[in-house]
Amino acid sequence: MTTTRTQVCIIGAGPAGLLLGQLLHKAGIEAVILERRSAEYVLSRIRAGVLEEGTVGLLDRAGCGARAHAEGLRHEGVNLSFDGRLHRIDLAAATGGKSVLVYGQTEATKDLMDARAAEGLVTHYEAEEVEPHDFDTDRPFVTFAQGGATQRIDCDVIAGCDGYHGVSRPSVPDDAIRTYERVYPFGWMGILADVPPVEEELIYANHERGFALCSMRSRARSRYYVQCPLDDKVEDWSDDRFWDELRRRLPAATAEAVTTGPSIEKSIAPLRSFVAEPLRFGRLFLAGDAGHIVPPTGAKGLNLAASDVHYLADALTAFFLERDAGALERYSERALARVWKAVRFSWWFTSMMHVFPDQGAFGQKIQEAELDYLTGSDAATTSLAENYVGLPY
Ligand code: APR
Ligand code: PHB
Repeated sequence: MTTTRTQVCIIGAGPAGLLLGQLLHKAGIEAVILERRSAEYVLSRIRAGVLEEGTVGLLDRAGCGARAHAEGLRHEGVNLSFDGRLHRIDLAAATGGKSVLVYGQTEATKDLMDARAAEGLVTHYEAEEVEPHDFDTDRPFVTFAQGGATQRIDCDVIAGCDGYHGVSRPSVPDDAIRTYERVYPFGWMGILADVPPVEEELIYANHERGFALCSMRSRARSRYYVQCPLDDKVEDWSDDRFWDELRRRLPAATAEAVTTGPSIEKSIAPLRSFVAEPLRFGRLFLAGDAGHIVPPTGAKGLNLAASDVHYLADALTAFFLERDAGALERYSERALARVWKAVRFSWWFTSMMHVFPDQGAFGQKIQEAELDYLTGSDAATTSLAENYVGLPY
């Protein structure tokens, strides 16, 4: 078995692991990343695409924000659709000038990967059987297999950035971790198509047939979703059926303006809220989807991964450069305080926008009253806006 040594062994090369690797490198801390998949596979995953200003700031700090600034679309507002028309929320007016940047997670991931490669930093892709060990001591290590040979990495700290289905969280003893979960009784059927977006800004639509979302990746590429039953299959949704259903859930004038075209990707995603507590177990730290999941309503997943990484990079910098072990102890509490607020917001936005099996006519009326209140009251608008653009770190 080959044994090597590093300061931080990061499991997972999604946005959380890559961003952490980059921030640590800038701070002069050495890290190795182990990723189960190939780089091509990681880049083929289609995910959300709305970045908070804090997330963009972290990409800048990591030295890879240039393309996001050049190619991302700055949105100062977002539309809610209900009652047969669009209601624009002026995010900038409600938040003292803040906005979000529409830039695909895939693109941000690619920028992080390119920066890592340019610095010559080590990432082991297609690493199998990754396993964290002895993180209840101050000499943890990680083993993995590659090309039939087992390797061992000795380190000071393990960062579990391996997503919801990763190995880090399940390696913690059951009695040391508590989890909180809500599974929603519907999914999102999403398509990507090379057609211009129907509106300049996103549209979140509440409709008696179910939720719909009009989003985009660029001025020439649209991303649309419709709420669907959990047992639907992608094969049930021809492009024609999708476009018809989307248009039925939008105001008439908007529906007429939708440009349709062949889908280039189609998938169904379930919706879930999930939080693990704590996020630190001795020398093992969870960040991003490894520690929590939010439903996509509000696009908080990637942004939460980024804020975790911000707190974790801070803690590790204090630990390695200032020998401040207390910083490691504070990570979980600091990160979770922000996580729970985003979990609350995503749950609330999901609850307000979707048709639930048991909601009935009363439930629909309550949603409409809430939407009317939200768009008619400055206080309520500000509350939505400050959460949507991202709470401060
Ligand atoms: N060993 C090594 N790598 C693993 C393992 C394992 N056992 N299990 C999973 N991974 C890798 C996955 O292949 C993936 O590339 O960990 C990475 C986790 O990345 P993400 O799932 O993208 O999670 P994260 O980096 O926390 O980013 C959160 O991405 O998943 C979206 O909606 C989510 O937008 C949010 C953001
Ligand atoms: C997306 O563009 O994929 C997207 C945008 C906003 C969301 C969720 C997904 O809330």
